[in-house]
Amino acid sequence: MPAEDLPGAFITVEGGDGAGKTTLARSLTECLRQAGRVVQMTFEPGGTALGTRLRSLVLDPDLTMSDWDETWLFLAARASHVQEVLIPALTAGEIVLSDRYSDSTLAYQGFGRGLDLERLSSLNRAATQGLTPDLTLLLDIPAELGLARARARSSQADRIGDADLAFHGRVNAGFRMLAAEQPERVCVIDGRQDAAAVLDEALEVVNRWLDGRRARS
Ligand SMILES: Nc1ncnc2c1ncn2[C@@H]1O[C@H](COP(=O)(O)OP(=O)(O)OP(=O)(O)O)[C@@H](O)[C@H]1O
Ligand SMILES: [Mg+2]
Repeated sequence: MPAEDLPGAFITVEGGDGAGKTTLARSLTECLRQAGRVVQMTFEPGGTALGTRLRSLVLDPDLTMSDWDETWLFLAARASHVQEVLIPALTAGEIVLSDRYSDSTLAYQGFGRGLDLERLSSLNRAATQGLTPDLTLLLDIPAELGLARARARSSQADRIGDADLAFHGRVNAGFRMLAAEQPERVCVIDGRQDAAAVLDEALEVVNRWLDGRRARS
């Protein structure tokens, strides 16, 4: 079920650790609401009670788990998020803005951990019931800068965020490859810009997409 079959608009924000996803998702939500649109902001892993519990497990630095165990936890969180939050909001015609979604699995567990991309794509399809974003905003910044920002923000240990720089470099390169494969869905925004410039660029892309859809329908 592509999101285009539902009346709402499904937008995801993706990118490596500290790229500015949460900052952008919040400001974009506020701007769209000020323009009179109904927006639900949500995030992964999380967005449901089960997802929040799974998030704390998957990020817990005191737990060790295999790369596949990690993947299953993310997929379980995604499946409940899709069923409980995304499909109902999109069915109700809302704009749904999700801070991370399926591309993060391909970038982190696929390009970062080295798990098979075809298999991950097929598991993503199963967990999401085929729900694909209408539009994805990819914040692209060098891994060093993202990690420095994330660490300046919080000193809390994080099992995935604390992985080495080479891992985060592969994740970022993976996101860029995913964007290059699907340029009609994924829009790359230079995350090195200040937050206001990132927001302006994102707003332009989102408004253009929303206007284009209105024209088509
Ligand atoms: N464009 C920007 N320029 C400079 N600093 C920024 C910018 N965007 C966000 N920040 C700051 O960088 C830090 C990380 O931003 P944010 O939490 O939005 O990133 P994130 O991509 O959501 O990170 P995570 O992957 O850890 O969830 C925050 O302290 C935030 O205030
Ligand atoms: Mg965040």
